[in-house]
Amino acid sequence: MSRRVGISTGGGDAPGLNAVIRAFVKHAIRDHGWEVVGIEDSFDGLLETPRRLRALSLRSCQGLLHRGGTILGTTNRGDPFTYVGPDGTTRDRSHEVAQAAAEAGLEGIVTIGGDGTQRISHRLMRDHGLKVIGVPKTIDNDLASTDRTFGFQTAVDIATEALDRLHTTAESHERVMFLEVMGRDAGHIALHAGISGGADVILLPEIPYDPDLIAAKVRARRDVGRLFTLVVVAEGALPKTCAGMSPEERKERLRRGHGAAAVAMAQLDGLVPHEMRHVILGHIQRGGTPTPADRLLATRYGVAAAELVAADRWGEMVALRNGEVVGVSMAEATSSQKLVDPDGSLVRTARATGISFG
Ligand code: F6P
Repeated sequence: MSRRVGISTGGGDAPGLNAVIRAFVKHAIRDHGWEVVGIEDSFDGLLETPRRLRALSLRSCQGLLHRGGTILGTTNRGDPFTYVGPDGTTRDRSHEVAQAAAEAGLEGIVTIGGDGTQRISHRLMRDHGLKVIGVPKTIDNDLASTDRTFGFQTAVDIATEALDRLHTTAESHERVMFLEVMGRDAGHIALHAGISGGADVILLPEIPYDPDLIAAKVRARRDVGRLFTLVVVAEGALPKTCAGMSPEERKERLRRGHGAAAVAMAQLDGLVPHEMRHVILGHIQRGGTPTPADRLLATRYGVAAAELVAADRWGEMVALRNGEVVGVSMAEATSSQKLVDPDGSLVRTARATGISFG
């Protein structure tokens, strides 16, 4: 059957976005003969005049497997339900997205994005009948209903390499060094990279920390001749004294303190005799070449998204469950966030190898 299907990327970029687009286009064109239309900058490409849409061909998707970023562009400020105009005022333009998609002859849209994008997509389908299929993306790996989002493994690799590099400096200078990695709400990157990179302390948003316990860990290491300490800090980690704060207050506390690693370092001031330094890894975790594991997952997701379209399973999101790629309802997928379980097996593994959570 001849079909015309849109595809877009939304939210922060993640390594593997292009690999999903490539796989979807290959399967859609080679095996089904569909037309695939790329929508630029998430839903913005449908809302602007002229619309920013472009036909995607096998040729235009060549060489994309290993390329970071997204050829379609993205934005994490593109919610059509609260669209911010050039004059700064906000209005609901969600119905225009569905209308523009219909006018462009799109049967539906494959939206590749994180929790925000998937929630918007689900609302567009529910409120305006726009047919959507979701592909879960975020380096944070905090989407419920899928065991993995692509981009996560690459971010963990980069953060682990950063820890390896900081290790030698920390050891040479006998310092306490703090590495801040992404993860505003969920500390999966910090936890995975911390264990893999041999961190001594891991600070997570899910486990508010006690600076005295970090200092005790630093001193205990010193007592056995380990004169340095490596601390990995998730972007949203805060001390116990901030545990009761609202999300806005937490954000403000981190902003005032110049980020989670700087806040943690300041908390240790006077408690340990070491020189201390902090490093923010930032967007380096999101850019560049995806790892083979992420290329593989992204390719599986792209193909699976085309299979959901072929089966008319609109309103579902592809997901990895126990090694299999399946379709799950978007309503279920967007109902909750996947946080680190403070009593889960990875935290227990870390504790069992002497890692402190402060
Ligand atoms: O959601 C992915 C993420 O990398 C978060 O961990 C981080 O807080 C955020 O994006 C940063 O976004 P921005 O690109 O707007 O700085």
